[in-house]
Parts: sequence; C-alpha cells; structure tokens
Amino acid sequence: MQSEYRQRRQAVMEAIGGGTAIFRSAPMAVMHNDVEHPFRQESDFFYLTGFNEPEAVAVLAPHHDEHQFVLFVRPKDLEKEIWSGYRVGVEAAKARYGADEVYSITELDEKLTQYVERAERLYYHFGCDRSFNDKIVALWQRLIATYPKRGAGPVAIEDAKLLLQTFRRVKSPAELARIRRAVAITAKAHNHARAIAQPGRYEYEIQAEMEHIFRLEGAIGPAYPSIVASGANACILHYIENNRQMQAEDLLLIDAGCAYDYYNADITRTFPVGSQFTPEQRTLYELVLEAQLQAIEAVQPGRPFNEFHDAATRTITAGLIELGLLAGEVDQLIEEKKHKAFFMHGTGHFLGLDVHDSGILRNPDKTWRPFTAGNVVTVEPGIYISPHYEPAEGQPAINSRWLGIGVRIEDDVLVTESGHEVLTAAVPKTLAAMEA
Ligand code: GLY
Ligand code: MN
Ligand code: MN
Repeated sequence: MQSEYRQRRQAVMEAIGGGTAIFRSAPMAVMHNDVEHPFRQESDFFYLTGFNEPEAVAVLAPHHDEHQFVLFVRPKDLEKEIWSGYRVGVEAAKARYGADEVYSITELDEKLTQYVERAERLYYHFGCDRSFNDKIVALWQRLIATYPKRGAGPVAIEDAKLLLQTFRRVKSPAELARIRRAVAITAKAHNHARAIAQPGRYEYEIQAEMEHIFRLEGAIGPAYPSIVASGANACILHYIENNRQMQAEDLLLIDAGCAYDYYNADITRTFPVGSQFTPEQRTLYELVLEAQLQAIEAVQPGRPFNEFHDAATRTITAGLIELGLLAGEVDQLIEEKKHKAFFMHGTGHFLGLDVHDSGILRNPDKTWRPFTAGNVVTVEPGIYISPHYEPAEGQPAINSRWLGIGVRIEDDVLVTESGHEVLTAAVPKTLAAMEA
C-alpha cells in the first residue's frame, strides 16, 4: 500500500509543479468533558499518507532540493502513550511512511518555512482548526512581505481540498477492494435485517443486530448514523432515533452502511414489516424501483453527472401524475420543482473514503462533468409522503391512505470502462423479494 500512497503523492506533486501543498491531520475530538471520540483521520491526509495519527502535518514540496515529502508528527512519549495509545514517532515514521524528512510537530514553526519560501504558490485548505489557519496565513503574509527582497515566494493560496477532488474521484483497485468488502459486510447486515424484522420488534433492535454484524465482520463500525425508520418515520430523511415499535402495516426503511478500513458502503432498502405491501405501498415501491433502475442505466462513462438524477426525477414525476398525486405536465412540474414535495433530495453522491465523497461535479460553464471509469456513486431516489402533507396551490388533495409512506432504494454503483456494475446487487430489491 505504501507504493500506492507514493504514487498518489507523485500525481499531486506533478499537478502542483512549483507549488507547496500543506495538509493538516484531523484533530483528536472531544466527545464530552475529557472523553475522546475514536480518532478518524482527515480523508485527504489519509489518502496521501496512510498516516493515522492526530497532530500531524504533511508537506508536498516538489520543487525543494532535498525533501519533497515531509511529515511533522507527534514525538514518542512513553508516558502519554500509556494513556492514549502507541505513537509511531519521528524515527519510525520516516521509513514506514516513505517521507524524505520527518520532524516533531513541536518543530513546525521553525522548519516549515524552508518548504514554502520558494514555492510559486501555496495549497492549503482552511479547515476548522482556526489557530492552524492563522499560522498558515501568518507564514504567507511574512513571505509576501519579504518577497521583494527574496524575489520568490507563494503569490497565492489555492484550496488543497479542491486540488484532491480530481484524484479521489477515480478509485484504484486497492480502494475498490475495500469498498467491495464494506459492501459485502453491509449486504450481509441488510439481508439479516430483512429476515428478523417483524411486528412488535423495535427499530433499535434491527439497528443493533446490523451494527453487531458490522463489527463482527471487522468493519470499523457504521459509516454514518444508521437510519432504521418504520412507518411514517421513513418520511424523515435523517431519522436516527430508531426507538419505535414496528407495526404489521408499516414499511421499514433501512439506510445503513459500514466503514471498512476507511472505505464506506451506503445501502438503503425498504420492505414491509409484515408479509405484504398495502396497495399504496406497493405502487410507490414499484415507482421508486423503476426510477432507480432508470437512474442506474444513466450511470455510464461519458454520461454527464446530472443525467441519472434527471432520469429518476422524470420517472417519479410522471408516475406521481399518473397516480393523481401531482397534477400537471412533467417538464413544467419539474421546472417548478413541484416534484420536491415528494422527492426532495438528490439521486446520489460519490462514495469512497468519505460517505459523501470528493469529486467536482460541474465545469465553470455550468455543464456537468461526465462519469469516468473508476467512479463509485450511490443511486438513491425516493418518495416520501409526509403524514402532514399539504398540497401546494393547484395541486390535488390526496387520499389519506397515501400519507406516512416513505420509500427509498439505494445502491452503490461502479462506473466501468463499458458501463457500470451494481456493487450492492447481493441485497435483493425486487418486489417479490421484499415480500418474501
Ligand atoms: N446515508 C447517507 C446518504 O444516503 O447519503
Ligand atoms: Mn444512504
Ligand atoms: Mn447515500
């Protein structure tokens, strides 16, 4: 894996030419009082280094005579390590992470300047660590002030997170292997959830059993807070209380995925808690499934990123008109965003190191960038009819049988050279399978 991190740094260094890029690790986050959250490295930092500790800085300085890749890390401290875990330390980091030079993070102020002072520009992402941001600005101002005398220095700061988006959008075989493992574990958990859900059980029981499988299979844990939403709870997009007792006529919407070795899966299935859909549930399920299949068809190399959302939106809007839930003509309803009363989110996002992964979607002229082989994207249309639904002006009142139904179907799709591969195909979604 070290050679892959090196290749990634090489590619970024080619892109920045005479510039210097500075990446800050994630901080150690406090949950409450002095209890710490489990550490999770900042994704760009991890992508370039594989280094998994807080209080670190990575520098890429391709123009520097001696050191093109420099790490600043926490020094060894046996007493602190007893409390909060092993530290790689300065000595070991050099060999283990392939850095040309490694310093203690305590030497940052003293050592950083030499890697920036002759750079043509500086790449840095202003993150939430304000004091670190201030440090970078102060360094830059100092170098600008002395530019006339030195005749060199970074004339601008560009965003380092934007810089990485192009690279992270395309997954390598090593990344895909991790996503496939995350997907396989998540598929097992979803299939188990469908087998055990029944009237009388609580949503959190399903959550617990799924997350049990995640951990038991070696995943880090949930990639995001698991949504186990029965009945009308499915109409709350980010419902995470998961504390309701399920009833026989409910649908159960489960949006859950695990993180495996830093890579994520993101799957949603919706099925009846009892044995059968009601007629309205079945109708909406079939419509969402049709929209999802149409959207997946639009996930192809060369097809612009908006087309899969447009496909889902058109299918759903036309279907809602046919059912009498919307009134009007497809194009106009979409133009007026009327479909958003029932389908109010996007159809998908890139997936990888982050659940909502890096990747620039549009060009400066507002056209959408096309999918390319190696992209992994979720495809997740839905229809949600709130129990409190009130039609907009000119739209029909709807029968109460439709109220409180929420359906989403979400798969993770890899763009290949010739088309696509649904990575999450091991979790069934046909109407028949949902009633089995
Ligand atoms: N579960 C997060 C999402 O679907 O985007
Ligand atoms: Mn999801
Ligand atoms: Mn998603």
